[in-house]
Amino acid sequence: MIVEQLKGIAQGFGYAVRSDRPAGAPPMAPGEPVFGHLRVLRDRPLQQFVQWADTYGDAVSMRLPGSPFVFVAAPEGVKHVLQTHAKLYSKQTRGFDKMRLFLGNGLVTSEGDFWRRQRRIAAPAFHRQRIEGFAETMTRATGDMLGRWAREGDGTRDVERELMTLTMRIASETLLGKDLSGAADAVGEALSFLTVNTTERINRVVDLPLDWPTPENRRYLKAVAVVDAVLGKLIEERRRDGAPHHDLLSMLLEATDEETHEKMTDAQLRDEAVTIFAAGHETTSNALSWTFYLLGRHPEIAARLYAEVDRVLGGRCPTLADLPQLAFTKQVIQESMRLYPPAWIIGRRAEVDDTLCGYKIAAGTQVILSPYATHRHPRHWADPEVFDPDRFSAERSEGRAAFAYFPFGGGPRICIGNSFAMMEAQLILAMVSQAYRLELAPGTVVEAERGITLRPAPALPMRLRPRAQAATAPREATS
Ligand code: HEM
Repeated sequence: MIVEQLKGIAQGFGYAVRSDRPAGAPPMAPGEPVFGHLRVLRDRPLQQFVQWADTYGDAVSMRLPGSPFVFVAAPEGVKHVLQTHAKLYSKQTRGFDKMRLFLGNGLVTSEGDFWRRQRRIAAPAFHRQRIEGFAETMTRATGDMLGRWAREGDGTRDVERELMTLTMRIASETLLGKDLSGAADAVGEALSFLTVNTTERINRVVDLPLDWPTPENRRYLKAVAVVDAVLGKLIEERRRDGAPHHDLLSMLLEATDEETHEKMTDAQLRDEAVTIFAAGHETTSNALSWTFYLLGRHPEIAARLYAEVDRVLGGRCPTLADLPQLAFTKQVIQESMRLYPPAWIIGRRAEVDDTLCGYKIAAGTQVILSPYATHRHPRHWADPEVFDPDRFSAERSEGRAAFAYFPFGGGPRICIGNSFAMMEAQLILAMVSQAYRLELAPGTVVEAERGITLRPAPALPMRLRPRAQAATAPREATS
């Protein structure tokens, strides 16, 4: 009786938890009578997805409000959704709808012909040769951070915070240039709020529309206005002065569509710039934070990393030319992103009826992919919980199923910044490891906090132990 009443109330809000399953759909996982999987996915989605991957292997139906929901765990299913049948799966999901509130119609959130055109225009700006010029910005910013650590004394630092500040600076300089001064901080602060608040909005069952004048909505709109004002002014100045700038914004400003010969409008530039800023810094920062966390827990692996950076760099500041030699450094990052992929969940909506891993997927089904769970799929990874960077050696990577590993997504919507992110992570990890051994502060307990990205929370306090090489660490650059 009470169950029916609760269902009635939920239906009144338009948020009934479906208990039916379309014919031929993946098996339904057992859930709670009224709430279905709502509470378990709110409280411990990572563990639940991993358990479903273990139990069901390919795909499983979930009971959640609104439409049918399916979680796809198998790499072949992920490949189907992201690559081979990507056209049938849209980004019309609650998560992307909430992101659109501040990202607008940028590369992450747009779709169809508009997205295709924007991607075509933006792609050359992310080509290897174009982003290589950013390596120097990355090492200079990291050198400045290390210089500050040395000046302020070693001790214990919240490495998560430090890396967030560092990647924010790198994102700001590579995207918008160096001439932003205080405005970059204002944009960064506004974007941090918008990102955190967007996660809260995604997780709420009922989220009030933005035009309701609640204190939260007012703060949200104010943050959007800050971002718009700074970017608007910058775009206007760039258009006016016409002088060469070597940042992503200028590349996008100058970019011309090969097919239509059109350039981006100011509104499109704003959306792409906010998107790249938001997509680019927190993800890389989190990848690095988890890497330092794992190295802190595995000193024997950290020792191999130090041996490599010392041998390859001999105390010098790394350059782009060193990256191929820093192979183990890269493997450490890859393995860290296997265990803690910053983009831990990817959503899509089936636009037509389809068949996936032998199951029927009805049009309108929300499809959830989780790199976190697929990266631990027992059919594809031996001892999945073990941190073992050698998994990514050339020999051991051979024959691995496509999409058993997809930290950057895949198919046509694969992360446009993936080379940028790997270059940045490799340079920062090499430079910090050259100068310091980072040890987890005693008693530190870290949990994976699930926002739009996966973050070690509440903080990552680590002790900085200067290494012998510290004396030859890159000197703070003067800028
Ligand atoms: C470790 C760092 C990063 C991770 C783990 C990551 C992950 C991802 C993933 C999984 C997607 C696909 C989302 C989907 O299919 O729904 C994506 C898309 C995207 N990423 Fe990244 N990303 C990282 C760094 C960056 C950087 C540094 C930039 C820019 C400088 C960037 C810009 C973008 C953009 C613009 C898209 C949308 C691409 C499109 O749909 O055309 N990302 N990223």
